[in-house]
Amino acid sequence: MVEIHEGWFEDTLGRISPTAQFCLAHLDADTYSSTKTALRYLLPRLVPGGAVVLDDCLFYGAIGVLQAAEEEIGKDLHLHLGPKTQAFAFPKGDPQPGRRAPIWRTLGGRRYDVADLLARPDYIELVAWEGAIYRNRAEGYHDYLQLISGRPDLPPDSHRVTAGIGLLRRR
Ligand SMILES: C[S@@+](CC[C@H](N)C(=O)[O-])C[C@H]1O[C@@H](n2cnc3c(N)ncnc32)[C@H](O)[C@@H]1O
Repeated sequence: MVEIHEGWFEDTLGRISPTAQFCLAHLDADTYSSTKTALRYLLPRLVPGGAVVLDDCLFYGAIGVLQAAEEEIGKDLHLHLGPKTQAFAFPKGDPQPGRRAPIWRTLGGRRYDVADLLARPDYIELVAWEGAIYRNRAEGYHDYLQLISGRPDLPPDSHRVTAGIGLLRRR
């Protein structure tokens, strides 16, 4: 059931069947141009209600991912915040619109819907669990948990979740 196309997207996307359609895409290339290439290919082939998972969309080390998504999908893109720095988008409409009222958090002037995240306590547990393991390396986990569960708006220069975490103080 799995087809592997080894190589750069630019070289391999043309090998996929021309009639292929996608319900779910998980993009994890980290860079602006690669995300753009993938989205340009994918968006016309995404079924209505199909989802794109943007890995590290909010990670300061991969700032091109969000930029590429906003350029290709649109600035008013409704992004559902996932665990840690992932975000989910439904570029052709949510398959179940209105299933959950959005709960917005604003970072760097951009709104993220955290309703899905908060409805999944296992995600929150995952972050807490990782935070406990990586306590010395990633002090931001505790603050991230606070952030997603109701911290007030962050200053406009806190560009990404992780950058925002850097601005917060551990008590
Ligand atoms: C964060 S890693 C992905 C890790 C992968 N999801 C995993 O779990 O093993 C990013 C990867 O994207 C690849 N990549 C970036 N741009 C690409 C492109 N244009 N075509 C193919 N792969 C690309 C990089 O070579 C790198 O291996």
